[in-house]
Amino acid sequence: MKNRPLIIGITGGTGSGKSTVTKAIIESVPEENISVIEQDAYYKDQSHIPFEERLKTNYDHPLAFDNDLLISHLNDLVNGKSIEKPVYDFEKHTRNLEKTVTVYPRDIIVVEGIMILEDKRLRNMLDIKIFVDTDNDIRILRRIQRDIEERGRTVDSVIDQYLTTVRPAHMQFIEPYKRYADIIIPEGGYNTVAIDIVVAKVKSIIQSKVNKDY
Ligand code: ADP
Ligand code: C5P
Ligand code: MG
Repeated sequence: MKNRPLIIGITGGTGSGKSTVTKAIIESVPEENISVIEQDAYYKDQSHIPFEERLKTNYDHPLAFDNDLLISHLNDLVNGKSIEKPVYDFEKHTRNLEKTVTVYPRDIIVVEGIMILEDKRLRNMLDIKIFVDTDNDIRILRRIQRDIEERGRTVDSVIDQYLTTVRPAHMQFIEPYKRYADIIIPEGGYNTVAIDIVVAKVKSIIQSKVNKDY
């Protein structure tokens, strides 16, 4: 990789399908050309706080994220350096300090997460901004199902968290930033028409970078 990578931001509310869209894009592009960093991996470490206290943290506030570390990692990737991406444990509500994932600098870097447009420094680093836009009722239904199956939650806990922090945060920190998006993908992960268009663009950018390299 000799040129500056292209940075694609994929955002949207919880349960909108961001992670599914991201997966669909990376699976359609050769692995050696694309890397991903998820803002979720940069939730602050809380291993020094008792578990009961961690349950009271507001995970839908910009301050819940270590965006300084995320931005510094993104800069490293832009400058051709690998990074050690943190691993987050949603069941324990803290970083898994035993593990990291090595992320390599590649032609395309995808940054995916709920509040990547809210941070101006991060927003300004994104070359293409995609907002996955899914109705609130669908998002909460998906979240209930996913959080029970994958994140060790109960129906009551998901509903309570949704009403107290997730919903107000969506209105304050996520929805207003849709105006910065270049592309809006309705419904998320299985919108194959939209995903195919983005993948075609990504492939053409990779091709033009390869041509410049030689
Ligand atoms: P996010 O990362 O935005 O929170 P996910 O990609 O994890 O959302 O999607 C939440 C849940 O909804 C997952 O279980 C996923 O399989 C499902 N999902 C995503 N996109 C769609 C879609 N277009 N139709 C139906 N289910 C979807
Ligand atoms: O993948 P998704 O966009 O849903 O991830 C962000 C969501 O994860 C936030 O809405 C936040 O409420 C939730 N979260 C959580 N517990 C944590 C960290 C994040 O429920 N410990
Ligand atoms: Mg996700």
